[in-house]
Amino acid sequence: GMETLQQLATIASEASKLSYSPYSHYPVGAAILRVSGENNSGQNIEVASYSETGHAEEQALKNAVSNGAVQNEGRTFLRAIAVSHMTDTAPCGRCRQIIAEFSNDCLVIVADINGKINSITSSKILLPYAFTPADLESVKTNK
Ligand code: THU
Ligand code: ZN
Repeated sequence: GMETLQQLATIASEASKLSYSPYSHYPVGAAILRVSGENNSGQNIEVASYSETGHAEEQALKNAVSNGAVQNEGRTFLRAIAVSHMTDTAPCGRCRQIIAEFSNDCLVIVADINGKINSITSSKILLPYAFTPADLESVKTNK
């Protein structure tokens, strides 16, 4: 219910406090809820050369995989993801693609830097007609 989603937004807000963002001064936090009920979080990690920067959503999802999410729950382990920004901001295009990789359709909760929820949407609304593993299935040589 709403309580779980608020909890997720709060975890995202907490994660943003560990952001390493000395170049943009723009912290971002993300928290995920897995089908197992477990949570993982992440924050943006910047690099002086800029393009190597890890986004909060990306880091949270990679932390989940490292924690055994795909092995234990399968590729579509993602039920919900909350993001925490200083502004009313949803995941970027690249993060939407990574979210699609690990979900069928998941809730996306957009919160402010204190964890106050601004909006609730879904991965399919944010990235319709997504490129997914199913699109690779016609290539027999992949099997
Ligand atoms: N950022 C994220 O962490 N997630 C997004 O989807 C949007 C951008 C970070 C990257 C960079 O450290 C800072 O926000 C400013 O672009
Ligand atoms: Zn992103």
